[in-house]
Amino acid sequence: MATDSAGRVTPGGAAPGHGPAGEGPEAGAGPTHDGRTLRFGEIEDSDVERVVALWDACGLTRPWNDPRLDIAQARTGATSTVLVARRGQDVVATVMTGVDGHRGWVYYLAVAPAEQGHGIGAAMLERGERWLAAAGARKVQLMVRDGNPAAEFYEARGYEVQRVAVLGRWLA
Ligand SMILES: CC(C)(COP(=O)(O)OP(=O)(O)OC[C@H]1O[C@@H](n2cnc3c(N)ncnc32)[C@H](O)[C@@H]1OP(=O)(O)O)[C@@H](O)C(=O)NCCC(=O)NCCS
Repeated sequence: MATDSAGRVTPGGAAPGHGPAGEGPEAGAGPTHDGRTLRFGEIEDSDVERVVALWDACGLTRPWNDPRLDIAQARTGATSTVLVARRGQDVVATVMTGVDGHRGWVYYLAVAPAEQGHGIGAAMLERGERWLAAAGARKVQLMVRDGNPAAEFYEARGYEVQRVAVLGRWLA
């Protein structure tokens, strides 16, 4: 990873290691807008509580979704993961990705509130897309809750509103 002339994060850089996109623990290390190093990689056990706290801070948790269970299931699946961006011991950003056998999906894209607006979200999303593409996905989809201004962020990155209704039912 690197930064552009304005100090914004760009997602470049090789990613050796495990996982479909080869996300190693030090993949894409590089300085960010404030000159401090950000490291991309897959979530580890020691990250879990920090990730849950980040999702809480970003307003992504809901009573009906157990975030620890969501993380555990994504980590268990052969075609899903949670990618994180770390600065030291802190988790600054996340994205959960997975291929369901047909499409690639993105969930829990989050950047710590104090770190937003510096290109980290765009870099994290691109990391997730690369992971999905390496896992065989030809299309990536995501759901944005009504009223979330992040929809504009996605549309600026080439995502289009799909004219479908998403229906769901709990199985367990
Ligand atoms: C959405 C989110 C991940 C973006 O992260 P970020 O690091 O702030 O985004 P970036 O700095 O990479 O922004 C890239 C661009 O999107 C724009 N942007 C970022 N967040 C935006 C938002 N909420 N609404 C509109 N535009 C937004 C930025 O202005 C920037 O535009 P530019 O490239 O023209 O300058 C972050 O705002 C966040 O964590 N939000 C809370 C959690 C959330 O809602 N996640 C999405 C769940 S579906």
